[in-house]
Amino acid sequence: MTHLVVQPGSLKKILNHVDPMELPTEVLMVEPTYFSVDYVINPHMEGNIGKVDKKLARQQWEFVRDTFVETGMNLNVIEAQSDLPDMVFSANQSLPFVSKRGNREVIMSIMNSEHRKGEVPYFEQWYRQKGFLVHHLDHRTIESFEGMGDAIWHPGKRLLWGGYGYRTSKSAYEQISSRFNIPVVILELNHPSFYHLDTCFCPLDEDTVMIYPDAFTENSLKMIREGFKNIIEADQNEAENLFCCNACCPDGKTVIIHPGADKVGDQMSKAGYKIVEADTGEFLKSGGSVFCMKLLHW
Ligand code: ARG
Repeated sequence: MTHLVVQPGSLKKILNHVDPMELPTEVLMVEPTYFSVDYVINPHMEGNIGKVDKKLARQQWEFVRDTFVETGMNLNVIEAQSDLPDMVFSANQSLPFVSKRGNREVIMSIMNSEHRKGEVPYFEQWYRQKGFLVHHLDHRTIESFEGMGDAIWHPGKRLLWGGYGYRTSKSAYEQISSRFNIPVVILELNHPSFYHLDTCFCPLDEDTVMIYPDAFTENSLKMIREGFKNIIEADQNEAENLFCCNACCPDGKTVIIHPGADKVGDQMSKAGYKIVEADTGEFLKSGGSVFCMKLLHW
C-alpha cells in the first residue's frame, strides 16, 4: 500500500499509530583523502573549485569522527576513491533501516549527478559484506534518489520525511512507501541553496526539529508544524552560511553543529540539548556539513 502524506491534517494520528524504530547505534563515514571541489552541482560549490585545504579538511573530518564516537556511536569507515571527490558525503548513497522483523536492510540511491553515480557501488559492496539486505529502486521510473540527504527518519519511528525538488524525484517516495510499507511525508523544497532536505530540516528528537522555514512551500511547512511539537527556526545567515540545519543529534541529547550559529544554539541549550561545535569549514565549500559527512545505521 502506498502511504504518502501530502497534506496536513492526518499527521498527528499517523505519528501516534506508526511502529517504533530504535535509534541507530552505528556511524558510517568515508575517509576525506580525495575530498575536493572539482565541479559545481550546488550553489555552495560555486567559486570553490580547487579551494579545499586538504590538511585542514582531514583535521575537521577527524574531529567530527571522534565526536560521534564520544557520543557512543560505533564507527565504520569506507575507503575513499580517487576519482570520487564527493564520496566523503556518506549520507547520500543509501537509506538504511531495520525491517519490522528486525533485519537490517538498505535502499541504494540513484545519484542525480553523473559525477556521483560511481559512489553507490562501493557502499553497496560494504552493506553486502555486513549482511544487509540490499534493495534497488526501479531505475526506469525514478530519475533520482539521494538517500539520507533527502530521506530522514522521524527519530524513534518507522516514518520518513522525504524532501524532493532538486536531487530526489517525488516518485522515489511512492515506490519506497509501497514496497516497504513505510509512511512518507513528502516535503517540497523551493530554495536552491537548500537542495537536500538535510540542509534545512534537522530532527533532534521525537518532538523537536530545527528548520529553515523559507526553504519549504507553505503546505510542507504546515506538515512539519503538525509533525513536531517544538520547532526551532533558523534565520537565513545561520541556515545558509553556517549550515546549522545540517547538524546532527544522534542520541536525542547531543547536537553536533558547525560553530557560530548562536541563535539556534541558545534555543537548543535552553531546551536542554548539549551543543558540541565541530568546524566543517572546508566541507561547507562543497555544500555539506556534519549531517552529510556521516550516515547513521543499525
Ligand atoms: N557536493 C556535494 C553535492 O552537492 C555535497 C553533498 C552534501 N550532502 C548532503 N547530504 N547535503 O552533492
